[in-house]
Amino acid sequence: MKIVEAKFLMSNSEYSKCPKPDKPEYAFIGRSNVGKSSLINSLVQKKDLAKTSQVPGKTQLINHFSINQQWYLVDLPGYGYAKVSKTEREKFEKMIMDYLSLRSNLVCTFVLIDVRHEPQKIDLAFMETLGEKGIPFYIVFTKADKLSPTAVGKNVEAYIEKMQETWDEVPQYFVSSSVNGTGRNDILAEIQKLNQDFQV
Ligand code: GTP
Ligand code: MG
Repeated sequence: MKIVEAKFLMSNSEYSKCPKPDKPEYAFIGRSNVGKSSLINSLVQKKDLAKTSQVPGKTQLINHFSINQQWYLVDLPGYGYAKVSKTEREKFEKMIMDYLSLRSNLVCTFVLIDVRHEPQKIDLAFMETLGEKGIPFYIVFTKADKLSPTAVGKNVEAYIEKMQETWDEVPQYFVSSSVNGTGRNDILAEIQKLNQDFQV
């Protein structure tokens, strides 16, 4: 898919105030600092569309981007950021879960996992919650440029094996790097396919 236009629309703390749900929408979620905003920028090939940071906790709202005037990309705050208070964290979690469960035009979400790390409880638990709520998702293993291809393959395989312990069918996954564009075309091709099936 060719991206001819990518523009920021608005930031919200409530799903009900998001843009009119009349176009297919895809949200990026995962731990703080996993590379959500960077992946969005890499998909649309714009450096600073979504704000990125070396410091975790950069994205704090539900951010809508309009792509080709045909679909929405959504950048969400990360979960599991230790440096916020419990009250604050619970507020973020509610905002994210309300959005994911109630947004009617959300086709699916992409759960990002840093390919360098062993399976973390927080991610596995998050994906289980999505499963329980019937929210469809893909997995994206990020930062593949930081490991050798062999190490990437080994880690992905280990992760999938871990998921097979609890999932009958492990969701489809992608391997990505926002530095060298790995995974970009595959993710966009999947979105294009899903866009064609979208009905309001
Ligand atoms: P929050 O908004 O804080 O939840 O973080 P985020 O998940 O949006 O992460 P962000 O895209 O801001 O990236 C965090 C850091 O990781 C930045 O320093 C990025 O440059 C770096 N980063 C993101 N993706 C990649 C990647 O594919 N490869 C490498 N090498 N670094 C990456
Ligand atoms: Mg971010």
